[in-house]
Amino acid sequence: MSQRRLRSQDWFDNKEHADMTALYLERFMNYGTTPEELRSGKPIIGIAQSGSDINPCNRHHLDLARRVRDGIRDAGGIPIEFPSHPLFENCKRPTAALDRNLAYLGLVELFYGYPFDGVVLTTGCDKTTPSALMAAATVNIPAIVYSGGPMLDGWHEGELVGSGTVIWRSRRKLAAGEITRDEFLEAALDSAPSVGHCNTMGTASTMNAMAEALGMSLTGCAAIPAAYRERGQMGYRTGRRAVELVNENIRPLDILTREAFLNAIRVNSAIGGSTNAQPHLSAIARHAGVALKPSDWQEHGFDIPLLANVQPAGEFLGERFHRAGGVPAIMWELLQAGRLDGGCPTVTGRTMAENLQGRQASDRAVIRPFAEPLQERAGFLVLKGNLFDFAIMKMSVVSEDFRKRYLSVPGREGVFEGKVQVFDGSEDYHARINDPALDIDENTILAIRGAGPLGWPGSAEVVNMQPPDRLIQKGITSLPTIGDGRQSGTADSPSILHASPESAAGGGLAYLRSGDIIRIDFNAGRCDMLVDDAEIERRRAEGIPEVPADATPWQRIYRNSVTQIDEGATLSGADTFRDIASRPPRH
Ligand code: FES
Ligand code: MG
Repeated sequence: MSQRRLRSQDWFDNKEHADMTALYLERFMNYGTTPEELRSGKPIIGIAQSGSDINPCNRHHLDLARRVRDGIRDAGGIPIEFPSHPLFENCKRPTAALDRNLAYLGLVELFYGYPFDGVVLTTGCDKTTPSALMAAATVNIPAIVYSGGPMLDGWHEGELVGSGTVIWRSRRKLAAGEITRDEFLEAALDSAPSVGHCNTMGTASTMNAMAEALGMSLTGCAAIPAAYRERGQMGYRTGRRAVELVNENIRPLDILTREAFLNAIRVNSAIGGSTNAQPHLSAIARHAGVALKPSDWQEHGFDIPLLANVQPAGEFLGERFHRAGGVPAIMWELLQAGRLDGGCPTVTGRTMAENLQGRQASDRAVIRPFAEPLQERAGFLVLKGNLFDFAIMKMSVVSEDFRKRYLSVPGREGVFEGKVQVFDGSEDYHARINDPALDIDENTILAIRGAGPLGWPGSAEVVNMQPPDRLIQKGITSLPTIGDGRQSGTADSPSILHASPESAAGGGLAYLRSGDIIRIDFNAGRCDMLVDDAEIERRRAEGIPEVPADATPWQRIYRNSVTQIDEGATLSGADTFRDIASRPPRH
């Protein structure tokens, strides 16, 4: 039993409002809960259930919650499970990104308006993790992340096939005429052999690694495959720890410090993590009141080496990564190299450095020593210029072949100039990319606009545009691409992404025309259209490209308040609400 008077007692044991307490209690009786339990002064722990039939990546949380409940009970708490808004990355149209802020809003209302003393955040599929952490930061009641873990490794014809990555690779093989449509489908289906989220280092594995790097989950939680026994055991321990967090009054804002976010940025580089970590970490930081600057990705993340040999930047999948030591082994390497702040507090009640003791990697084929990485300087390159104020490029997926063709041409190392082909949204791209009339060769840059938070709406994973089939058949498997949208965390495309401000907000991409020359200076971090200012002004008067009308009420509300990707695409003004649980809601 907790020594302090608990938040939930304001509902269930309120002397001044005995009538209200009667009302709050009575309907919990109808499934067999007793008044003694709810009035015992034991912490009430919410389990934010993200699993459902339309969130397959998280669906096994419906079963895992039993172990979380066991842990909560054994530590002297009372579990109350409730559903959160589903966020299924692969299926929600026009994009699940639209719903991240909706799920956030829902969770804030649930954490704040119901009698919870603490919450277990069940996470997995991409946006389930950031939405939950954003809400935990706003409300600031004790919270702990419990992820569902990746699927088992996928195998097809004796080769590892990873979530998402198999799609991008098979698309190129299909374009090159190496496989049939049926073989494409079979390889894709084989990449999903069990319950769990994407088994590559896509956005799901990345964001759960970020939760662990921030100190918001138990040590080692992120990488345990969904079907392993340790996943259920971790659920039990997480449930227990949720109760202790309430007793010790450890809250999210004690943990979500600027140092914790910088640690997360460094870990993201070392794991070859998803580009989506940028908007999501930026959003969590905003709600936590932490000033995370767009330039922090360059200053703290760029020169970190790639240590995890996991697809899409490397070879292996989730099972091998877990068995090699997972996220703690990566963090241990960074700590030894002096590139991690070990003093950060965590949900374990200990510092990050204490959590990492004895967590050395056990398989060097999968997790490299800091001094012998897979690649140096593997973080995100931050670019700006007259096309945008901010964009990123993920260096860990830039292939040797691409570096040779575009980054290391003798005489102009790190500088590339090419003619641009512009597409307005992905329908335009798909309709025209194989049009023989389009003047596209290996010196062409592909640009896509209308794919940002306002334009899509929601910001879509479409910037990783494949070259025309005829170039792929000649062995040119990637061209430089630029866009105001995102790309899948599972993509291995050398794209310049997240251009902010986006075209629909009047950013420079709106005034770009096919045939313009773009100059990308990777050394100086610049990306410019070589078009003089007078001409840009003239084009500005022509207006910005049209975007689709709002199709749902939420799309309108979202567009009226969303910020740009450099700021995390949060709801503007939502970050002025912080630590709201410190003021109890009115009856
Ligand atoms: Fe859900 Fe990848 S689609 S985790
Ligand atoms: Mg995705």
